[in-house]
Amino acid sequence: MSKEIRKAVFPAAGLGTRFLPATKASPKEMLPIVDKPMIQYAVEEAERCGIHEFIVITGKNKRPIEDHFDSAMELEETLKKKGKQALLDEIQRLNHLHFAYIRQRAPLGLGHAILCSKPFVKEEPFAVLLSDDVIDPDDNLLEDMIRCYQRYNSPVLALEKVPHEETSRYGIIKGREIKKNVFEIEDLIEKPKPSGAPSDIAIIGRSY
Ligand code: UTP
Repeated sequence: MSKEIRKAVFPAAGLGTRFLPATKASPKEMLPIVDKPMIQYAVEEAERCGIHEFIVITGKNKRPIEDHFDSAMELEETLKKKGKQALLDEIQRLNHLHFAYIRQRAPLGLGHAILCSKPFVKEEPFAVLLSDDVIDPDDNLLEDMIRCYQRYNSPVLALEKVPHEETSRYGIIKGREIKKNVFEIEDLIEKPKPSGAPSDIAIIGRSY
């Protein structure tokens, strides 16, 4: 099987309760950071790794995500007439990417959201990006993860070291370091108290 990653899945059907009331009627993934919605940072991160096919798992109130990645004819015409070329280029920059949307019929959790993409990714390897974890582009995280997947031929999760006293806010791994910054994961413990945590290393929102 080819180890090239061509598809990325974006689970975006969660209720976003931690951001209420901002997320009552608007998707959490569309909350802006400076001048871009969070999900666009993740799409651009995947695009830099050569991924052009995006499967977004959506739910109730998530229509703005579809509109955001669609063409906007009227707006584009207006910008063209007004000679605002830089803005026009910016909003057309992602037009070559392919987006598909799947409704998760009920918010049954992240695992179920990823499973909803199965008929579309089929047997291919694919990336999963949680757009509410915004990653510094200079970190090249996704690129490193793809290399790791190709080398070890196994699922890969992104990890980060967290303060020991905060382990109860994260999914914490039990594992052994097989190479600098690469861990073989033996177990995952959801939100352990610091006294019972097997490490200070947590999973974050990227996987293959
Ligand atoms: P979170 O754990 O952040 O859940 O989901 P949430 O619902 O978005 O936010 P809170 O906890 O209510 O504040 C991680 C990712 O998984 C997606 C979310 O959209 C988010 O990108 N997700 C979560 C789904 O797609 N479906 C679900 O049923 C749950």
